[in-house]
Amino acid sequence: MTAAYDPLLRRRHLFAALLLLSCSETALSARQCADCGSSPVPYPLSTGPDCGDPSYKVRCNNGALMFDTLNNTYPITSITPETQRLTISPSPLIPDTCVTADISTGGIYLDSSSPFNITSSNTILYINCTEDLLESPLNCTASSLCHAYIDASGLGACSHAPICCSFKAGGSSTAHKLRVRSKGCSAYRSFVNLDESLPVRRWPQPALEFQWVSPPKPLCGSQSDDCSASPA
Ligand SMILES: *[C@@H]1O[C@H](CO)[C@@H](O)[C@H](O)[C@H]1NC(C)=O
Ligand SMILES: *[C@@H]1O[C@H](CO)[C@@H](O)[C@H](O)[C@H]1NC(C)=O
Ligand SMILES: *[C@@H]1O[C@H](CO)[C@@H](O)[C@H](O)[C@H]1NC(C)=O
Ligand SMILES: *[C@@H]1O[C@H](CO)[C@@H](O)[C@H](O)[C@H]1NC(C)=O
Repeated sequence: MTAAYDPLLRRRHLFAALLLLSCSETALSARQCADCGSSPVPYPLSTGPDCGDPSYKVRCNNGALMFDTLNNTYPITSITPETQRLTISPSPLIPDTCVTADISTGGIYLDSSSPFNITSSNTILYINCTEDLLESPLNCTASSLCHAYIDASGLGACSHAPICCSFKAGGSSTAHKLRVRSKGCSAYRSFVNLDESLPVRRWPQPALEFQWVSPPKPLCGSQSDDCSASPA
């Protein structure tokens, strides 16, 4: 008789499968954080030490979800758990200037060990750049999308800052940072899934998209887990 037809072994397999199922369901429901205002906080995102996975920290601030970078905080504008993505509202321009407010923290920096990274769905326009950028691989030509955007969006101050560039994010050098600095580019705009053929007036609101890596599977049977089924 081969193992596959051993009825006792089959029962054991079935039991193990049921145990795994009930464990992971319990672990997940125990770990999902409460809504923040009206926004669900899908696992593994974590608004506190008792829920979610603490390495996927977000903040619930008076009913609004916020995303902390190393030195700054941005409002979260959408979360898509199926694709493990969230978007933030990027920094506004300082009024009457062509400088984004987060220049004070160098732009957007994530810890290199962060489970979040900047996705390749972001089209970034760098604005008010120095001539050094002309040596970069970015598209800083007169036909770059950034010029159409500045002309059409009424960013008056930026029309006095002639060098701007565009690129698709998501390369390894931009996975965890978007630099904003006076010796580079002092402002930026980001658009998710931009259809570059559309006129600027039909572009979406500026947003920056991050993706998170899958969390490790909850360990079934370990003492810290709330598995309701007891081992045989
Ligand atoms: C462009 O950036 C530089 C360096 O940050 C800043 O001094 C200048 O005021 C900016 N230009 C405009 C039009 O705001
Ligand atoms: C960002 O924060 C780190 C650690 O808190 C600090 O060392 C660094 O100077 C900050 N950078 C900026 C540009 O604020
Ligand atoms: C720069 O971007 C424009 C608009 O998307 C495109 O037509 C042009 O070919 C690009 N130039 C380079 C050098 O990539
Ligand atoms: C960003 O994270 C996703 C999900 O873990 C991964 O597939 C992708 O390769 C990462 N991108 C970069 C540029 O590191």
